[in-house]
Amino acid sequence: MRVAVLNGPNLNLLGSREPELYGTERLEDLERTVRERAVELGVEIEWRQTNHEGEFVDLVQSLPATADGAVVNAAAFTHTSLAIRDAFLAVRVPFVEVHLSNIFAREEQRRHSLLADLAVGIVAGFGPRGYVWALEALVQHVERSES
Ligand code: DQA
Repeated sequence: MRVAVLNGPNLNLLGSREPELYGTERLEDLERTVRERAVELGVEIEWRQTNHEGEFVDLVQSLPATADGAVVNAAAFTHTSLAIRDAFLAVRVPFVEVHLSNIFAREEQRRHSLLADLAVGIVAGFGPRGYVWALEALVQHVERSES
C-alpha cells in the first residue's frame, strides 16, 4: 500500500515554531517516526510539505496516480482553502485529517475544517503521535474497503 503524507504551510518550522503549542520535535523527526511505523505496516510513504496552496492542490490532484490514501495536515489551509476541498472532492482518495493541536479547543477561526466532512476521520490534539495513529487508521480503512 502507498500512503502520501501531505503537510501544509509552516509545518517546515516545527521544532522552533510556537513550541508550547506544537512541541519541540522537528518535521524530520516526525517523518522518521512515521516512516518507522510504515515499515512495520508494510506501507510505502511519500512525504511532502509545501507552503503553497497551488502546490498543495497539485499534490492532491496527483493522489489517484501515486497513493491508495493520504494522511493530511493541511495546517492553516484546513480552515481557509476551498480550492483544496475541491481537489479532494475531485479525486475521492481516502484520507485521514491530522492536527498536532486540538483545533476545536483553539481560536474560533480554527474550529472549522473545510476538509473534515470529506475525511475518513480526524486525529487532533495528540502531537506527533497523532500522525502514527492517523496512518494506522488509514491503513485499516483502506484494507477493509479492499476486502
Ligand atoms: C495545525 C493547526 C492549524 O490551525 C495551524 O494553522 C497549523 C497547524 C496543527 O497541526 O495543529 O499550522 O494544523
